[in-house]
Parts: sequence; C-alpha cells; structure tokens
Amino acid sequence: MEIVRCRDYEEMSSKAADIVCEEIGKRPDLVLGLATGSTPLGLYRELIDRYGKGTVSFKKIKTVNLDEYVGLGEDDAQSYAYYMRSNLFSHIDIAPGNTHIPDGKNADHESECSKYDAVIDELGGVDVQILGIGHDGHIGFNEPGNAFIPRTHRVKLTEETIEANKRFFERRADVPKFAYTMGIRDIFRARKIIFLVSGKDKAGIIREALKGPITPEVPASILQLHSNVILIGEDKALELLDE
Ligand code: GLP
Repeated sequence: MEIVRCRDYEEMSSKAADIVCEEIGKRPDLVLGLATGSTPLGLYRELIDRYGKGTVSFKKIKTVNLDEYVGLGEDDAQSYAYYMRSNLFSHIDIAPGNTHIPDGKNADHESECSKYDAVIDELGGVDVQILGIGHDGHIGFNEPGNAFIPRTHRVKLTEETIEANKRFFERRADVPKFAYTMGIRDIFRARKIIFLVSGKDKAGIIREALKGPITPEVPASILQLHSNVILIGEDKALELLDE
C-alpha cells in the first residue's frame, strides 16, 4: 500500500484531486466510486474548483456511490443523494443519468440490493474508488461482523456509527437505523482505491485496520490484500502507524 502523508486536510484533498483528475484524463469515461461523510468534502471542493478552471470535465464519467440510508429519499437533506448533489454533482458537468446511488426510499431491500448489483455489473465494476473509514472500521456501511458480505446489502448500523453520524441530524433519534451499502467484493474489485483519512480521532482505527489481523470485525482490514490502494492521510491520522 502506498502511503502519502500530508501536513493538513487541504493537502490531502488536493493530492486526492490530482489522482482523480489524472485518472479521468487517462479515461474520460471512468467509473468513479464515491464516498460521503466529512472526509471527502475537501476533495469534492477541489474537483469543483478544477472544473471551474477548465482543467477537468466530468461529462462522460459514471459514478457509483457506496451507500445510502434506508428511509431517506433524494430530497431529504441528510440523504447521501442530497449530499452528492449539493457537494458535487450540481456544480460540475456530470450527466445526472450517469450517477448512481441506492434508492433509500425503496423499502423492498431485496429488490433494491439486486438492482444496485446489476448497476455495478452493467458498469463493469468500479475503476477508481474513493474511500473513507468509520470509527468502527467500516468502509461504505460495511459494519463489523463475523463475515465479509460480498455484494449490496441492507445493514443495521452499529451504535458507534449512529453516534458518529448524529452530528448531521437534528436529533440522534432521527439517524436511520439501516442503510444500503455496496458489498466488500465490489469495493475490493475496484482497480484503484484512494483511501482518505483525516483527523486524529481516526489514528487508532487506521492502525488496527492496517497493522492488525485481516478480519470482518474490522472491515477496512481487507484493504491490506488489495494491490492498488493509495492511502492519503493527514499526518495526525497516520501517527500511530509507525509504532
Ligand atoms: C459514513 C459513511 C462512510 C464514511 C464514514 C466516515 O458513515 N457511510 O462511507 O467513510 O462514515 O465518515 P467521516 O468521513 O465523516 O468520518
């Protein structure tokens, strides 16, 4: 795993944007896997900025998001569909039909999961995946458990995740209890993974994920086996890796 240490959040975001733009340059119809949360916001700002300067176009790319809360629709301000529109899609030249996010409003989880798997298959899998990590080691919303779940599934969010994500909601009780998430197989099959880590509060879980045993109890630990991960992190998030 290549590790790129950055002095701050801005440098991390800018380095990640360099790679995304370089990949789009090589392949204008790139399939880009997208993440949500606070960590990739700076990267999305950079991409919008570069689009504004005319150095990159997203016209032909296709995107596939990692996850969505069950019960929230694209007009709910806390949904990931809304997040993607307001933090990236509505500011760039991407074709809305080329963007894909699980439909949180589809209560029939079996049909939603197989539909999303079919979308991923139709796209031929992900070329470049942006990834963050949850405090409990989750990637996408693949929560700790006793098995890696390969494909899209409905997941019960852990108390730790609900606690961490309550900051985006008015009340803790408003945080959905379930989410749809892309499975580990499809994340792992991405040809390149840009793994972003920011904040001192992620230092412990990053050490566990990269130096500890590969186990579904720490879903991100599977990345130890991937041959093309670039970890771009703030120094303070990576400070426990050398111990
Ligand atoms: C969220 C998302 C993940 C994200 C993670 C970390 O719940 N489902 O895709 O990587 O948690 O979020 P943050 O970057 O805000 O710490």
